[in-house]
Parts: sequence; C-alpha cells; structure tokens
Amino acid sequence: MNFPIEKVRADFPILSREVNGQPLAYLDSAASAQKPNQVIDAEADFYRGGYAAVHRGIHTLSAEATQRMEQVRNQVAAFINAGSPEELVFVRGTTEGINLVANSWGSAEVGAGDNIVITQMEHHANIVPWQLLCERTGAQLRVVELNPDGTLRLEQLDTLLDARTRLVAVTQVSNVLGCENPVAEIIARAHQAGAKVLVDGAQAVMHHTVDVQALDCDFYVFSGHKLYGPTGIGVLYVKEAILQAMPPWEGGGSMIASVSLSEGTTYARAPWRFEAGTPNTGGIIALGAAIEYVNAIGLEAIAEYEASLMRYALQELRSVPELTLYGPAERLGVIAFNLGKHHAYDVGSFLDNYGVAVRTGHHCAMPLMAFYKVPAMCRASFVMYNTTEEVDRLVAGLKRIHQLLG
Ligand SMILES: Cc1ncc(COP(=O)(O)O)c(C=O)c1O
Repeated sequence: MNFPIEKVRADFPILSREVNGQPLAYLDSAASAQKPNQVIDAEADFYRGGYAAVHRGIHTLSAEATQRMEQVRNQVAAFINAGSPEELVFVRGTTEGINLVANSWGSAEVGAGDNIVITQMEHHANIVPWQLLCERTGAQLRVVELNPDGTLRLEQLDTLLDARTRLVAVTQVSNVLGCENPVAEIIARAHQAGAKVLVDGAQAVMHHTVDVQALDCDFYVFSGHKLYGPTGIGVLYVKEAILQAMPPWEGGGSMIASVSLSEGTTYARAPWRFEAGTPNTGGIIALGAAIEYVNAIGLEAIAEYEASLMRYALQELRSVPELTLYGPAERLGVIAFNLGKHHAYDVGSFLDNYGVAVRTGHHCAMPLMAFYKVPAMCRASFVMYNTTEEVDRLVAGLKRIHQLLG
C-alpha cells in the first residue's frame, strides 16, 4: 500500500508540536480530529477576503458568501449521495441534528403509546433527546441490548419492533467499541415494521464512504469537526418528503416566508426553514474544504490505511499484560481499554506525560459503561494521520505503567 502518510501529516500543523517535552501522538481524533492547513486557510481566507452575512444581501460579498454556502450543500449531497442538496440542513453538529429531529419530527409524529427503539451502545446525543421526547409525549423508549463482545443483539428487534414503533435511532459506528452496526439490515427491518430510521454517522463518515440513498435511512447526521473540519458545524440529512412535512423548530430570521403581527407567520421551504438566524458560514465553507481534502486523498485509500493501522494496533496492544480490550475484533477508528485495576484517568494522565493523548472517561456512553460494569475506559483513536510509531509509543507507555505500578 502506498499511502502518502508523510504528506498527510505535513498538512496538519499541530502534529509537529511537542507536548510535555515529547512529540505529540494525537490519539483522540474520535473526540475531535485535527485540522489540515487547507481547512484552516479556507476559514481564515473567508474572514480575510470574502466575509459577509448570507441571504437577503444584494451586495456582492453577501451574494458570494451565499453562493459559497450553497455550493457546500451541493458538495455534502455528493459526499453522502443525498438525492438533492435540499435534503440537507446545516446544524451545529450531530447533537443539534438529533435534537432537531426529536423536537420537530418527533413532536409531530410521536405520541402516547408509541415507542422509539435505540441501542445500549448509543452516545448520549442519541439517547437523551429521545428520553426527553418520550417524557414530553408519553412514548416508550426501548433498547436493543448487547452480546458480550459488544455487538447488537439484533434478534431482539423481533420483539422490540411493533406497529407502534415510530423510530429506530442507531449509531453506524460505536464511538467506544468501534464496531460497525449492520444499519442496512436494521433499516430494512424497521421499515417493514413501518418505523423510520435515524443513523448517527458521527463516527462513520471519516472512515468510509456513506451512501444515504443505498442505505435508505430516513435521517442521517454527522459533525464536521470529526471529519477534519471546524467545530460548530454539522449536517442533518432528511429524506425530502419527510423534511418538507416537518414543522419548524427554532424560529427567527431566514426561516420565514412572511411575518405579520396580524396574520401570523408563514415559513420558508426546507432546508432553510430549519436554519433560523445567521448561520456559521465560515464553518460551512471550511467544512467544504474538509470534504474536498478527504476526497482528494480518497476514502478508499484512507480506509485501507486505517485498517492496516488498526490491525497493527490490536496486535501490539495484545502484548500488554493485564490490558482489557472492549468490543469486537472488527472495528473502525477506536480501541477502548483498561489497564489492570488502574483508573482510566490515571492511565491517561501517565500517557500524557509521554506526549500520548488518549481520551478517558465514560465517552458519553454511560449505559455502555454500565454494560461492562466499569466507570470509565481509555480510548485510543486511529485515523489517517496516525502512524505505527505512535502505536508503539502508546504500547510502550502502557507497558511502562504496568512495570512501574503493577
Ligand atoms: C457516535 C457519536 N454520536 C454523537 C456525538 C456527538 O457529536 P457532537 O458533539 O459533535 O454533536 C459523538 C461525539 O463524540 C459521537 O461519537
């Protein structure tokens, strides 16, 4: 394989800095990925030479900014193969996208006696909005449990799905276990039962291509900052017929057709109906640059490189005494573990002394921590700019902790 790793790393300026006197080994990209110069420059250039508020502007800068923003909508549509750019709503991130669905679609379509199905491995962003919706409406939240290896107990769908199931909300890739869920099968089974499906793609879009039409999901959501883009921007895809029927969520400027104090308000078409207020145009433009960057390298090449890195990491981590790995062997992007009886925070801060950045804690997946009966885990992420040398430094650090502390 001929992956241009040196060239890729050179694009990410932060990767050449030191942390605690050591070269940085950034193994926390699943929480948030670093940004290449192309993304940083796109956002800075926009503010330097192209900035203006979008929409309603008759002057050149405003028209240009509006056009660039809508170009990114087209780019995202091609990136996830949406049927039309008008199926895409710019949101702050995955969390806001899911809350939008719960508040708009959910409030209109879910009532007392209905149910929503999630899984025990969901991120809190794909749990709490549904709990809130159920509290508001009297609907019931049902949960697909896990096998001991962390895969979904899909046979439970036979009993969990029924005529009152309105939605199945499932993550495509777990942010802790790294397992890829069989979302196409889940979508087909949910549709047979008459339910809609929301796929949380926060941990998927940076690892392989996504085709929302082939998946046939009703909602798909992801965050820009995990895709090497900026924070504060994400995308919600909704099938056109569903989106056009959804009621407004946030009210304000840009989402209206007309406002009258005597006759009330009429609303803009979707997706603009769901984009109230001045948008994060700089973030949208930089998200476009991130997609362009990933496309230029190619998701197939990225997937192949990451797969070989992951195989190497798993093999090397297995040589660390008393290391517990969580999740199935087949995985994307992340490896969660605990070392002996040491708390994940201690392990994480020890590794930090050696410049190795891993995430520690409950990873916003407390029900998954409860399943494994642990309060916390360490999680190392591996993406296209990581190297086998960084894996070696992680493994050496863990072996040192074991040697020093037992
Ligand atoms: C699977 C999953 N869903 C949702 C989220 C929430 O994403 P954001 O914080 O960007 O809204 C994350 C972030 O860690 C995630 O990993």
